[in-house]
Amino acid sequence: MPLQIDLLTLFPRMLDGFLAESILGKGIAAGHLAVKVHDLRAWATDKHRTADDRPFGGGAGMVMKAEPVFAAIEQVQTPGCRRIYLTPDGAPLSPTIAHRLSQERHLVLLSGHYEGIDQRIRDGVIDEEISIGDYVLTNGTLAAAVLIDALARFIPGVLGEEKSLTHESFTNKLLDFPQYTRPAEFRGMSVPEVLLSGNHAEIEKWRSARQLEKTRQVRPDLLK
Ligand SMILES: C[S@@+](CC[C@H](N)C(=O)[O-])C[C@H]1O[C@@H](n2cnc3c(N)ncnc32)[C@H](O)[C@@H]1O
Repeated sequence: MPLQIDLLTLFPRMLDGFLAESILGKGIAAGHLAVKVHDLRAWATDKHRTADDRPFGGGAGMVMKAEPVFAAIEQVQTPGCRRIYLTPDGAPLSPTIAHRLSQERHLVLLSGHYEGIDQRIRDGVIDEEISIGDYVLTNGTLAAAVLIDALARFIPGVLGEEKSLTHESFTNKLLDFPQYTRPAEFRGMSVPEVLLSGNHAEIEKWRSARQLEKTRQVRPDLLK
């Protein structure tokens, strides 16, 4: 059974292109995973389809209401599924988290908007909270897209060449090495000689050295 993902959002059309294009689009078309995007307003019961309200205690903005979100999650969830809220105060997304989630059977992703969501949703129907980085987006739909893309790469068959998973930034706590393709000479810039040598041992040595150099420069924290 392929991984089933249900995404609950107020902006379902934001992902139309994303889910149809490139490696992810092909993975979905080939049946390696299935993604359904739901409009949360479908579960709002009043005539204006209200999904948000003013925060108790005052303050700026609006808060997503508990009733439609509870109703939506209770309808799409299945026994044993993992219900995830995308939020800047969640656990930082990492390859380890993406890999773990790629092995689940069913994920329900919740995207927030405005000032966030009623805390009772988090307390009542959410199993895990994930952030895609230390910055704040206007809503969680793109964050959900990032999570879907990152985990899909770990599903067997989604990447043409599974070995690209072992040659990526963050594997072995290193950033990636520089890549080149034809032509060997472009506007006076040449491809490093060693990559044209055909000497695989030397190429590996050069690549490892570049990885270490780059990681030291940009992400020394990974080497600690
Ligand atoms: C404007 S944000 C709410 C921010 C919230 N008041 C706070 O300061 O933590 C609206 C929604 O965008 C999503 N979001 C924003 N930044 C995110 C991030 N870095 N990672 C994951 N989701 C994010 C969440 O779903 C959130 O409910």
